[in-house]
Amino acid sequence: MIPKAELHVHLEGTAPPELVRRLAKRNRMDLPEEIFGDDGNYHWTDFLHFLKVYDATAATIRTPEDYRDVTYEYLAGCAEEGAIYVEVMSSPDHSAANGMSYANHQEGIVAGIEDARADHGIEGRCIVTCVRHFGAEQAMEVARQVAARPHPLVSGFGMGGDEAGFPPAQFARAFKYVADSGLPCTVHAGEWAGPDRVREAIETLPVQRLGHGVRAAEDPALVQEIVARGITLEVCPGSNFATGIYRDFSDHPLARLRADGVKTTLNSDDPPYFATSVGREYDEAAEHLELDDDGLAGFTRNALKAAFVDEPTRETLLARLDAGAGGKSP
Ligand code: ADE
Ligand code: ZN
Repeated sequence: MIPKAELHVHLEGTAPPELVRRLAKRNRMDLPEEIFGDDGNYHWTDFLHFLKVYDATAATIRTPEDYRDVTYEYLAGCAEEGAIYVEVMSSPDHSAANGMSYANHQEGIVAGIEDARADHGIEGRCIVTCVRHFGAEQAMEVARQVAARPHPLVSGFGMGGDEAGFPPAQFARAFKYVADSGLPCTVHAGEWAGPDRVREAIETLPVQRLGHGVRAAEDPALVQEIVARGITLEVCPGSNFATGIYRDFSDHPLARLRADGVKTTLNSDDPPYFATSVGREYDEAAEHLELDDDGLAGFTRNALKAAFVDEPTRETLLARLDAGAGGKSP
């Protein structure tokens, strides 16, 4: 199995219905049944509705133990699919809404990463995210929390939420604050908004990577700028198909971006909502982009090179990739 790595998955969005029901029971909560469809999976109609269902399921994660379990179970499943490294994006705004402090939020996630490493040999890191539709002031509050409580396993900062309604420039202060504290940054851009917003993101925010970023493909000059800056894209094809941004691989720009020299990676985004997983993303890319093992290992190499991780760990992971992918490629 090709060693895999994932840079873009929303931690609260990794919990499948079975785990969410278990957490609700543990916390003596009633779940709104309309969040589930007849097939037992999550039910949502469009992206903004998806974000609401996401909030409802995230509300079941209420204690450090809950966060530990969500993190651990996700990483254990990834390890089973051959992943050696995963960065999970967490949202302290969601846990604060459930009465948890940032310290408790961090404590639970760190325990999940450490336990998964001990039991399954998978390396993990946490990227703390703010939510753009909660506004710039709230983003600044998250930035302050992250900078005030450094932890070696919390290794980056990002932002999700409603991209179409909330352009990136208004969050420049929050991103600068975290970047000045020494953490690298990524941001969702070029998913629900076009290339102009991608350009705005890379010109106003200190980001080394872009979440999605695929709609940059609509502007060739921007694609060249992304190549020149060495920005890595966290591409999530299955998510894009599920939300309707692209129909299938025949209109998805991943192959074109790769051919143009953009560094791309494969990611699941919110796996149970989008009927995907990191393993499935690799399988689908192999089939539809007609990639052999070397091609697939290239995604893992790009991810490890762009990972928000300390250098000794990066070297160890690259060596694991080389060993698992059957020899070093040039
Ligand atoms: N928050 C949770 N999942 C998200 C996604 N796929 N895009 C943007 N924000 C999110
Ligand atoms: Zn995302």
